[in-house]
Amino acid sequence: MKRIYIETYGCQMNVADSELMLGVLGREGYVRADDPAEADVMLVNTCAVRDNAEQRVIGRMGELQRHKRPGDVLGVVGCMAQRLGPALLERVPRVDLVVGPDGYRNLAELIGLAAQGQRTADTSFRTWEHYEDVPPVRETGPTAFVTVQRGCDYRCTFCIVPHTRGPERSRRLGDVVREVQSLAALGTSEVTLLGQTVNSYHDGDHDFADLLRSVGGVDGIRRIRFTSPYPTEFTARVIEAMATTPAVCEHVHLPVQSGSDAVLRRMLRRYTRGRYLAVVAALREAVPGITFSTDIIVGFPGETEAQFQETLSLVTEADLDDAYTFKYSVREGTPAVRLKDHVPDNVASERLDRLIETVRAQARRKNIARVGQTHEVLVERPARRGGLMLGRTRTNHLVLLDLPPTAAGEYHTCRLTGTTGSTFTGAVVTPTLAVL
Ligand code: 5AD
Repeated sequence: MKRIYIETYGCQMNVADSELMLGVLGREGYVRADDPAEADVMLVNTCAVRDNAEQRVIGRMGELQRHKRPGDVLGVVGCMAQRLGPALLERVPRVDLVVGPDGYRNLAELIGLAAQGQRTADTSFRTWEHYEDVPPVRETGPTAFVTVQRGCDYRCTFCIVPHTRGPERSRRLGDVVREVQSLAALGTSEVTLLGQTVNSYHDGDHDFADLLRSVGGVDGIRRIRFTSPYPTEFTARVIEAMATTPAVCEHVHLPVQSGSDAVLRRMLRRYTRGRYLAVVAALREAVPGITFSTDIIVGFPGETEAQFQETLSLVTEADLDDAYTFKYSVREGTPAVRLKDHVPDNVASERLDRLIETVRAQARRKNIARVGQTHEVLVERPARRGGLMLGRTRTNHLVLLDLPPTAAGEYHTCRLTGTTGSTFTGAVVTPTLAVL
């Protein structure tokens, strides 16, 4: 019996891809190892969106290779593998295997070759590849990721993803529904649909609206989330489907990247600040109580202080609930490499600090105002500390609850009793209390 250890970096799709790789290798008799020291094969599933993500992996490879015994295989998979390809074999001498996101089907074979000393890199795009016949090996639980679209056809000038994940392709709607049905049969009640621009999903005449309705119609599915949508792909049909499909949660992660029209143009984002605000308003109108998180890049080439100020004001004007904030990182091979006026690192760092401060203060203010509200909470898993359970509201707020581990998967009506500014404590509202 061969043991496989996988370490995952980056986005949710990488988490889903690691589950897929466990599926591919599980068919070949591999079992999962939690400790690299016990594994025959170690894979690091990597991210390439920012340089620091890659540096972390390089550092980690140095540590992992110490666990390598003769015949063991150390592989780099995912977006960084795709980006660097064979060069990675040269750069890290103890790496045996480099496989991009479209090459996982052949993993067992490539591992076999590597174990015999044949180091290989497979970075071909296979635009038909959906791994449709490979059941992912997931940790069974109340929530699951379901990939519905791979690749990306947008050309945001900062972004390496079109190079690492290839052209956009959607799965067949029927295949997605069947997968969700099998998850529901195992007790999963919340699914997160994944795609690079997930709301541009299309299968023949079926669009993302049809997908939401179909998944929402699966018995046992009480919650649907999706990530990440592209602002201009929220058609009236999609918004209508969100509003009328009860399972669709009242939260959207809606990357804006910048609040300045000039910067958005240079990023080749296909909307203006005004259009983004209009999409947020339309969603708020259609889906009462909806919350928003976003992604923001500061220090994009040419970004002036005034343009950065527009990003700060957008956070406030759009009344966003949360944001993932990043300092621009130059990615070789992306169009932005050729843009002039690179922002000095100290200026970008200082802007990042101010942005984080604005986002935190706003989140805190909004969350304090939520204390006392009653929400439906899905209990997900034990919290790291304190013997509490961690749950989530439909609006994507984390809530700590004093419940036993057996409560995982349960839905409870809870009152939010306190907040750290970002997460909440809550108390289950018993029917009697609700009457009082
Ligand atoms: N530099 C910094 N942040 C980036 N992102 C993507 N590419 C870059 C880059 N070159 C951010 C975007 C995206 C998120 C996943 O990562 O905000 O939405």
